[in-house]
Amino acid sequence: MRRFSKSQKQAVELVSGNAGDVLNQGQGYTTEEKLRGFATLFEQQLAIAKHSNVLRGSTYVHIDLHAGCGYNRKIGHNVKGSPLVFRDMAAKVGLNDYLMFSVDKNKHAVAELARHLENDNRCFPFFGDNAELCESVPELLRAHGFSDLRSVVGSVLMDPNGLVAFPWDQVNQLMRICPRLDVIVNYPGLAMIRNYGHPLWVDIAELPKRLHKTNWFIREPLPTWYYTIAIGRNTNKIKRPASFVEWDSEAGRRYRRRAVTDNATLRKLPSTGQLELFT
Ligand SMILES: C[S@@+](CC[C@H](N)C(=O)[O-])C[C@H]1O[C@@H](n2cnc3c(N)ncnc32)[C@H](O)[C@@H]1O
Repeated sequence: MRRFSKSQKQAVELVSGNAGDVLNQGQGYTTEEKLRGFATLFEQQLAIAKHSNVLRGSTYVHIDLHAGCGYNRKIGHNVKGSPLVFRDMAAKVGLNDYLMFSVDKNKHAVAELARHLENDNRCFPFFGDNAELCESVPELLRAHGFSDLRSVVGSVLMDPNGLVAFPWDQVNQLMRICPRLDVIVNYPGLAMIRNYGHPLWVDIAELPKRLHKTNWFIREPLPTWYYTIAIGRNTNKIKRPASFVEWDSEAGRRYRRRAVTDNATLRKLPSTGQLELFT
């Protein structure tokens, strides 16, 4: 796990020529809507941290496990990516006391993100695997002066580009060490439907157990790719975020069904040979 130093950033620029050209985060027109969903959640999280009598004075810790390069460019205009949206929301609610650890396995993405965050000493972009970052977080927090990890408040964002290996065990372990970190997942619905039966396939219904959280909200799947944002917490004291519904409400159950089973034909694909692609 490496932090990016200035010389590393320069080295990557030399390798890539123009880093902006090589970055494709899987953007589509629904990307903007995804970022609005993240913005809603970040704003609520940060506003609570800012205004709650109990939390006032705590440093908010945000961990972005699929950080990207900071911008989504392929949709006609620039849409800020999750790390920059998080910072914008912190500025909007006036919360200055936060730390952001972000990671991406694409060195060009990290190099660009590091440039966007260059003058911000609260933001730490890492180059590497997100499972590794999860394992390093307790040590990083101690290095930043946190002594009681059970009381650390913040969020972990998982925003994969389709069917990839989620670091389930490492996030779960982190949640056991820091139970007050909430978790935000952008569940790749259609990718999961298409790969039903694949070893990486995970039913959205398993999120609460896999991520060790008791209280969940979910947003309607997006019309293309059925990306579905969910947030899990270990408290029932926080109200429903705007445009989200309770996990077990009628709408919540409908959204979950749609995120994994909307198209019966797609669900049948693996049994008609698609699995061979993965053996
Ligand atoms: C959908 S993009 C992220 C977009 C970003 N969150 C945003 O809002 O602009 C997914 C990113 O996850 C990264 N990624 C995928 N698997 C990873 C892993 N195991 N560890 C770290 N990064 C990973 C990819 O390189 C890609 O940049």
